[in-house]
Amino acid sequence: MQKSWGMQTKAIHTGMEIAPEDVTPPIHMANTYLFESAAQAAEAFEREDRPIYTRWGNPTTAVMERKVAALENAEAAVATASGMAAVSAALLTALSPGEHLVATTGLYSATYHLVKEDLPQLGVETTLADATDAAAFEAALRPNTRAIYLESPGNPTLLLNDVAPIVQLARAHNLLTLFDNTFATPVNQRPIDAGIDVVVHSATKFLGGHGDALGGVVAGSAAFIERVLKGPVRRLGGCLSPFNAWLIARGITTLPLRMARHNRNALRIADWLHRHPDVAWVRYPWHPSHPQYELAQRQMPGGGGGVVVFELHGGIEAGAALLDGVTLCARTVSLGDIRTLITHPASTTHRSVPRAARLVSAITDGLVRLAVGLEDTDDLLADLDQALRS
Ligand SMILES: Cc1ncc(COP(=O)(O)O)c(C=O)c1O
Repeated sequence: MQKSWGMQTKAIHTGMEIAPEDVTPPIHMANTYLFESAAQAAEAFEREDRPIYTRWGNPTTAVMERKVAALENAEAAVATASGMAAVSAALLTALSPGEHLVATTGLYSATYHLVKEDLPQLGVETTLADATDAAAFEAALRPNTRAIYLESPGNPTLLLNDVAPIVQLARAHNLLTLFDNTFATPVNQRPIDAGIDVVVHSATKFLGGHGDALGGVVAGSAAFIERVLKGPVRRLGGCLSPFNAWLIARGITTLPLRMARHNRNALRIADWLHRHPDVAWVRYPWHPSHPQYELAQRQMPGGGGGVVVFELHGGIEAGAALLDGVTLCARTVSLGDIRTLITHPASTTHRSVPRAARLVSAITDGLVRLAVGLEDTDDLLADLDQALRS
């Protein structure tokens, strides 16, 4: 790979260390690999420089891992069975019993439960703090704090964590920083370039991009990724299916093109909603009405992403009527799909998060999340318009 390559060239051409006659990566759907002799098997286990067993690593999965590492400017990456397998593998690798984690408020619901319930059960102390405010993070630090976990923009708040001062804080206290980059993708922001140590993704979303393959990935230093692979991935077993890795690697080849369209469609829809008389408020990182617009321009130089959140004057009932009224937008959870998806987080994705915690994280009862797809913007606006009128 040439360092000077742009994102689209990298997305297509990196990771393709495959047989010279292969134009596309073959799908290695094999659990295990043959050895010519007992000695060769022993040598393979000693060196780990060839395929052995798919939970240990797989040639198709390696293509996806190399692509993500290249796009995130990370030394290495390891694929996992889902985004949550990536989040949990990264946190279990980073933390030991007796250590303390400070995580941002406004986390994806399953991450919230992992941080609030599962990690403490394993003896890891955790605190949630407002990462829009570095001073709140500093106040949450304890002598045994080992790591910081960020998610920006947050799902579904679309509020940003202020990365630069938090990275400075982490360096001053020798803390490991982990960052969920699912919403922005490396096209819109590159946390590792900003000083973050470890990036996680739900590859189910924009990386795969087509709503057909669940997957996840952790990217970071070669040493950390080796620990994730040899610890949680191999022992807890959350490795990715090679078929899903193939779909996600193919999805990644068009990621920059798709993100440009997601960004453009979402910004135009956010602006249209902002002007609509039925809309109480709209939040989109690249819209000037976003409370952290300036930060978004700096921290997400590639664009505001493919998700817009808003609330109608009529609150929950009006939001439900909108969801029932759309015909082109799909009523479903998830995001990052080629199709536009519409969700009411308080009653679905974030239903399990206590209401008080939702409100602390700016997830209001009537918040509607629109995961804007790649359709023609006029068609999406016409659908929203007819649903708001009906
Ligand atoms: C920001 C974020 N991180 C992680 C996840 C978990 O991903 P998965 O559903 O692939 O396990 C999600 C899922 O919605 C998410 O939005």
